[in-house]
Amino acid sequence: MSDHAIRVDELVKKYGPVVAVDRINFSVAPGELVGFLGPNGAGKSTTMRILTTFMPATSGIAQVCGHDVMENPMAVRQNIGYLPESVPLYPEMRVEEYLLYRAKLKGVDRTNRRKRLEESLEKCRVKEVRRRLLGTLSKGYRQRIGLADAMLADPKVLILDEPTSGLDPIQIRETLAAIKSFAGSHTVLLSTHILSEVEAICDRVIIINRGSIWWDGRLSSLASEIPTLVMDLTGPEPAISDWFKKVAGTRPANIIPGEEGIVRCEVEQSAGDDLRETLAKQAVERGFGLRRLDIRRKNLDTLYSEVVLRRSAS
Ligand SMILES: Nc1ncnc2c1ncn2[C@@H]1O[C@H](COP(=O)(O)OP(=O)(O)OP(=O)(O)O)[C@@H](O)[C@H]1O
Ligand SMILES: [Mg+2]
Repeated sequence: MSDHAIRVDELVKKYGPVVAVDRINFSVAPGELVGFLGPNGAGKSTTMRILTTFMPATSGIAQVCGHDVMENPMAVRQNIGYLPESVPLYPEMRVEEYLLYRAKLKGVDRTNRRKRLEESLEKCRVKEVRRRLLGTLSKGYRQRIGLADAMLADPKVLILDEPTSGLDPIQIRETLAAIKSFAGSHTVLLSTHILSEVEAICDRVIIINRGSIWWDGRLSSLASEIPTLVMDLTGPEPAISDWFKKVAGTRPANIIPGEEGIVRCEVEQSAGDDLRETLAKQAVERGFGLRRLDIRRKNLDTLYSEVVLRRSAS
């Protein structure tokens, strides 16, 4: 048995000429709650569809709880709960009836079905709609029935493709709480575009862009990253640029000409080496207009922009 809950090795998926996933590697340990981030078309849903056996890979390995998705898809399915991007539901079935039917399909034995149903309804806060027809539910409720379905058989691994998309703010909070409470004893891989959700509940983040993994790390590691000093100046750009690079010396620096004649200057701010006073004084002496001067600590938002924007440009 593998000690990974999820393992992806040199995974490739091509749709005709389109390379949606391009030799990606990552693994997720049991009990981890991982946010899977990336812009539209990055390859998140494709990776999740392969991991959940809904689509074959072009090459490479994908495993869940030590079972290969190609060699042993039934064992993989028994270990996962999957919330796809758009939840297919039978409109003419009632919520309770549907979930009991799903529990049966998932092999939950008869004596446990009711109990599992009640737990899922409770966790996903959908008790009040248990007797409603699926076809009459609002988008947010349909989404949460999909989540209840994913958690129904108490799977070891949950794979959730944008579980909060289309939910109202209160529902989002409740859904995140449900996911968080499910994690710990379980493993969760979830995709989302809302960075604050990831900051609220995930331990670790994987950023995928154009089919490749660009960042994979713990959120807590961001706190120890070197902050950036950001200075917005007005004045002739060549003069600002020459001067700023001189002051920055060997520290990595960036000059970014912006709108309304503002030139943004950025430099790494290492510990015990505060350049703010020097920069402010010299900028004024040189006649530049000072519009902003502060220290930007790295958070998920700055990391994401850095990874996705800078590397898209390269
Ligand atoms: N069935 C398909 N046939 C052809 N191309 C596809 C298919 N599904 C996805 N793609 C392409 O594969 C790439 C990755 O798509 P994917 O749906 O995995 O992205 P995503 O990261 O989930 O994006 P989003 O944030 O928009 O959901 C895109 O270029 C997409 O157009
Ligand atoms: Mg997607």
